[in-house]
Amino acid sequence: MSGNVKRIGVLTSGGDAPGMNAAIRAAVRAGISHGCEMIGIEGGYCGLMDGVMREMSLRSVSDIISKGGTILRTARSKEFSTEAGLLRAKNMVDIFRLDAILVIGGDGSFRGARDLARLGVKVMGVPATIDNDIGCTDYTIGYDTALNTVKDAIDKIKDTAYSHERCSIIEVMGRDAGYIAINSAIADGAEVAILPEKEFDLNNDVIIPIINCRNRGKKDYIIVVAEGATDSMWLAEQIKEKLDIKPTVSILGYIQRGGSPTVRDRVTASLMSVKAIDMLCNGECNKVMAQKGDKIVAIDIEEALQMKKCIDSEVIDAMQILSL
Ligand code: F6P
Repeated sequence: MSGNVKRIGVLTSGGDAPGMNAAIRAAVRAGISHGCEMIGIEGGYCGLMDGVMREMSLRSVSDIISKGGTILRTARSKEFSTEAGLLRAKNMVDIFRLDAILVIGGDGSFRGARDLARLGVKVMGVPATIDNDIGCTDYTIGYDTALNTVKDAIDKIKDTAYSHERCSIIEVMGRDAGYIAINSAIADGAEVAILPEKEFDLNNDVIIPIINCRNRGKKDYIIVVAEGATDSMWLAEQIKEKLDIKPTVSILGYIQRGGSPTVRDRVTASLMSVKAIDMLCNGECNKVMAQKGDKIVAIDIEEALQMKKCIDSEVIDAMQILSL
């Protein structure tokens, strides 16, 4: 063991994502293999502020790799983002003698980790969110599982849409990010995808494409809407009013956050956590794991939080071509 890291806290924070358990398991096993004590912090930063922690053994993470959710539970804490909350958390780090904390979550969780780092706490981040919207990494844990859940749901909705010659609006998660929407639209051959990243015009983006599809002989239409892009119920009313077609609206909701993680999510989570713990035990800290191409790399947390990414316009163009 080196780098003076002997006791490592692990927490999951923000919206849960399939694969978080795989990340916890890998962190615990990698830490113990380096001779560290591994401490599970319950309920994200809330549990850190309240000192809700327990030691984790090799066996405490058995049989969790295939489970969705997070055995450590998670939360979004407003209090932690205040100075008083942050100091309470720092105090618990000292009381529980944690040498470092591994934070598994999205960019809000990483901002919290960065704030702890600025107070002198050693941190590492592993990116996990179904939205795939963390700027520093090509891929976030949970995204592939969520996409497959959406694909399964749209496949089923398409069967009935075809049989009844219907227009189906399917709302998927993504308040600020359209990755789930655009890729599920491609995977399921949707006619229209409405994304938070792209300004949306009712006539040009929905009404005219449906008329064109109808004139080309299509009788059923799939419209995928990212939750942050527009109000699906309002959109259904507009389509009814302008085209005399009454769309069905399916809001997929939290089903997208659960379920057994795919191979991609299990493997990515495992490799990212192992690397993060190895680095901590070798004296490095304050970094976020990121996937770049097929490599897992580590990026300084301050730098990582400045990085932005956006959906490639070629992907949006391809989706439109494929909907012909
Ligand atoms: O960040 C993941 C996410 O699932 C978003 O797509 C969604 O907008 C949000 O979480 C919903 O989170 P909450 O659990 O706060 O309702």
